[in-house]
This record gives sequence, structure tokens and C-alpha cells, in this order.
Amino acid sequence: PLVSTGELVSAAQADRHGIAAFNVITLEHAEAIAAGAERAGAPAILQISENAVKFHGGRLSAIAAATAAVARASSAPLALHLDHVESVDLLHQAHAEGFGSVMFDASKLPYEQNVQATADAVAWGHERGIWIEAELGKVGGKEGEAPLDAHAPGVRTDPAEAAAYVAATGVDALAVAVGSSHAMTERTAALDHALIGQLRDAVTVPLVLHGSSGVPDDEIRQAVASGMRKINVGTALNTAFTGAVRAYLAENPTGVDPRKYLVPGREAMAATVAGFLALMG
Ligand code: G3H
Ligand code: ZN
Repeated sequence: PLVSTGELVSAAQADRHGIAAFNVITLEHAEAIAAGAERAGAPAILQISENAVKFHGGRLSAIAAATAAVARASSAPLALHLDHVESVDLLHQAHAEGFGSVMFDASKLPYEQNVQATADAVAWGHERGIWIEAELGKVGGKEGEAPLDAHAPGVRTDPAEAAAYVAATGVDALAVAVGSSHAMTERTAALDHALIGQLRDAVTVPLVLHGSSGVPDDEIRQAVASGMRKINVGTALNTAFTGAVRAYLAENPTGVDPRKYLVPGREAMAATVAGFLALMG
């Protein structure tokens, strides 16, 4: 069934487990996430990023409706979330398109402007019952971004600044920069677990880990144990999908029916989803 991100994350916060959120680009992603969640017997969040909306020609409706339909038809509790929204215009489409939650991403802006833009997004969302996540610090590594020096000042999230940010904006959850980076195809990131503990103690809202594709299993388990609540995974699904499609096409160079290679691609994503869900505690 279709449930809300707010209820899944609140339950995770109360019970100290994690909720995995997976990025949907195509219908096959949504179907694979539902299949993986059913297999694992766990809830999950289906999230569509602003970049994925751009891939669909700037049109949110079709992929949102398809993803919501997959969630409604599933036996697993699945929520629909709009991810990494920088455009206020896209934020304002969330309500009409059936999203119960949005990550509004003003993390590229200087602190004061990030606070102002995020506070406005929260005010808009809360008037409509929409749960809002925002980012302080810079996870980095998104498409088109220069790689970050993870040790440079202002890159990792500062605990005192995080407390002030949450108080000033009223966000429902906070995405923090603690050593992960977006779009990693190898799982080699090392998280700053001491910083995760400090952030957990500094703010009352649930913490969100972005760029989890590059984080090894044990580090994810440890992050959940020390208070990380929403675990965002995107690239790992694409790595699995593309690997399976590439292998199929290499072995079958003359076939043309897309179903022949999308089936192993989708199955590889479902197995990856089930693997991440097993780490949620
Ligand atoms: O918001 C999406 C996630 O942070 C995904 O990051 O593609 O590196 O797993 P990833
Ligand atoms: Zn992210």
C-alpha cells in the first residue's frame, strides 16, 4: 500500500531502525523496489529526484503516477517522496502530484540563504501536510558537480550549526554530510561515526544519509545503530541494472525485444534493494 514518508520515518525514529529510500528513474526501478521490499518484508521509500524529472522532459506527472500505482498495488508499505528539489516551481507541484514528502535542497546556498529558502519551503509544505527534509553541509557528487574535498571547512555538517538550522527552518528531517558522497560505483566511503553521534545528540529530528551506494554494509549498519534514520540509495540500483543489461546484450547480440534485457536488469535491482533493506536493523 501507499503510506507516507513521515509515518515510516517516525516509526523508525521511535524504534531506532533505518528506512531505505531508493531513487526511481524508470518504471522498472519502481517495480524492482516494490519486489525487493516484498521479498525483504520491509517498508521502503520510492523517491523521484529533480534530475529524474528532467530526464522525463521536465514532466513529473507520468512517472509520479506510475510510481504511486506500483506502491498502491504492492503488499509492502511504500511511500512516495520527491528528492533533491532545487526548483520552487517543482516543489509546488508536489501536492497536486500526490507526494507526502519532499527533500528541498538549498545546500549549495550560503548558510543564511539556505535557512531562508528552506524555511519558506517548510512553511509551504506544513500548510499542506507535506513532510520536508533539507540538507546542511554538502554531500556533493551529484551529476554535473565538481568532486568535493570531504575535509574542507563547510563540507561536513557542523553539530552546533545543525541545531540552529533545524530550529530556524522547522524541517522534519535533516540530511547531513558525514563522509558519504553521491554517485559512487564502489563501496569505499568511510563515515565519520563520531560526527553522526554528535549530530544525533544535537538535533531532535531524524538524520538522513545521502550517497549510501558508496557506503559498505557494515558502515551502513553502524550508521543506523548510531542514529541515521533515512538511508538514500540510488547509484547502486543503476550499477546492478546496467551490469545485468550489459551482460545479457553481450551474450545475445542479435535480440531486439527490450523485455529480454529489462527482466534481468529489473531483477538485479530487486536483489540490490533486498540487500540494502537487510541492513536497516
Ligand atoms: O538522494 C539520493 C541519494 O543520496 C542517492 O545517492 O546515488 O550515491 O546512492 P547515491
Ligand atoms: Zn542525495
